[in-house]
Amino acid sequence: MAETPRVYVTRELPGTALELLAEDAAIRVWSGELPPPREVLLEAAAEADALLTLLTDRIDRQIMAAAPRLRVISNMAVGYDNIDIEEATRRAILVTNTPGILAKTTADFAFALLLAAARRVVEADRYTREGRWQTWGPQILLGHDVHDATLGIVGLGGVGLEVAKRGRGFGMRVLYHDSSRKLREERRYGLAYVDLDQLLGESDFVSLHVPLTAETHHLIGERALATMKPTAVLVNTARGAVVDQQALYRFLKERRIAAAAIDVTEEEPISPSDPLLELDNIIMTPHIASGSVGTRLRMALMAVENVQTALRGQVPAHCVNRAAVRRWRQTMRSRDVSVAT
Ligand code: GLV
Repeated sequence: MAETPRVYVTRELPGTALELLAEDAAIRVWSGELPPPREVLLEAAAEADALLTLLTDRIDRQIMAAAPRLRVISNMAVGYDNIDIEEATRRAILVTNTPGILAKTTADFAFALLLAAARRVVEADRYTREGRWQTWGPQILLGHDVHDATLGIVGLGGVGLEVAKRGRGFGMRVLYHDSSRKLREERRYGLAYVDLDQLLGESDFVSLHVPLTAETHHLIGERALATMKPTAVLVNTARGAVVDQQALYRFLKERRIAAAAIDVTEEEPISPSDPLLELDNIIMTPHIASGSVGTRLRMALMAVENVQTALRGQVPAHCVNRAAVRRWRQTMRSRDVSVAT
């Protein structure tokens, strides 16, 4: 690109990520704690060659139509359901994500939720703080064992596999369901492939690790919840809309499943007056599963590298819409960028 490329970043990033990005681009950064308002994003997109976005930024047709120079959208997340991929591809804009580096951190958190729900950690903390702890009692705050229980993993991608490994480490029987069988992982970690109904029917803990797509939207709805055991716990660190939240509310309230521990909701943030928050058999955290200091830094650096690679005329390894590449190369050449083939 003959001129210095312009990059709009929708939030302050950890560590040196922004300094690195500023080495070879003119950057503008939205410094608010909340996402940039729509009109700010539209105005910023109008002059940007690249956007570095978070999962809270809806990058749709309207934004892309307002962004004639835009060549890459680098999402600092593994999920990218906040971006209209079809539209980006149609406009020859590359979209990238940050896979791999957050799998173990997210799995640690999914497991923390699972353990917390099984052993009623949050409830027990409240009980102690409220001064209700009067003695040791044989029946106080009894939970359920995690060891020897059955764990069902829905979606054996990077995060799902890490959760499966943690389950095996705890002596659990681990079932998984995925759109394709992973024979190597099955053998290596002792996992059993089953269909979704069997997984839901046999698992004591069901942990969701699928991306949000048209196929997985409300995958866990009335029917799926009815297939689960009344003693089962649902863990969701994937995307809120994979679960039908209204159905979840009914099942939890009527104790048709035992508990849920979720880090994601259909609308984020969830309204403080949402009825789900009135239930004592749900643990809810504010979408922080990948939130360790080290991982968030690595995600920011990878998102920066994705922008820089694309602006240099190379296709980033983590491009999620390869169908855009041929026409993207033509556009970059027309801007005097020496494009790698
Ligand atoms: C977090 O939810 C991510 O997609 O990275």
